[in-house]
Amino acid sequence: MKINDKHKILFVCLGNICRSPAAQGVFQSIVDSEGAAAGFEVDSAGTYSGHQGQLPDRRMREAAARRGYMLTHKARPVEMTDFLDSDVIVAMDDANYEDLMHLAPSVEDSRKVVKMADYLTTHSISYIPDPYYMGAEGFELVLDLLEEACRNLYNSLSE
Ligand code: 4NP
Repeated sequence: MKINDKHKILFVCLGNICRSPAAQGVFQSIVDSEGAAAGFEVDSAGTYSGHQGQLPDRRMREAAARRGYMLTHKARPVEMTDFLDSDVIVAMDDANYEDLMHLAPSVEDSRKVVKMADYLTTHSISYIPDPYYMGAEGFELVLDLLEEACRNLYNSLSE
């Protein structure tokens, strides 16, 4: 754990209405349950700006609420200044990762970008799938993946 400083975590997907606001909600819930809210700032953003200002997709909000996560984030596009403001930027899939690599203002900043799926231990999938065009089971799968990956990310940052 950093001393006298906060871990600033930014979760990034394409639209910022399904995966990354859900990751934000799951991670914040872990932080809160660990009594560590003073040590973390958790945010999310999208590489595509078309949903700016919107609440998360209703299907994701409902699936998350059934697990106790209230998602209230308003979608926003990721910006170059996010690299200066964040310690860790977590990409949901490879396209998000590549887009973030192109946006990074320096090589040092690009090293802040990690892949959410690299924190999975029991699921063998290399990305968090986009549930937007999937059925209800897609949203449940995404939440299953995010719960595991967020717990492992939290543990790695808290060592
Ligand atoms: P997300 O899902 O990247 O997890 O927020 C999507 C949301 C919207 C679109 C694609 C993916 N879209 O094409 O509008």
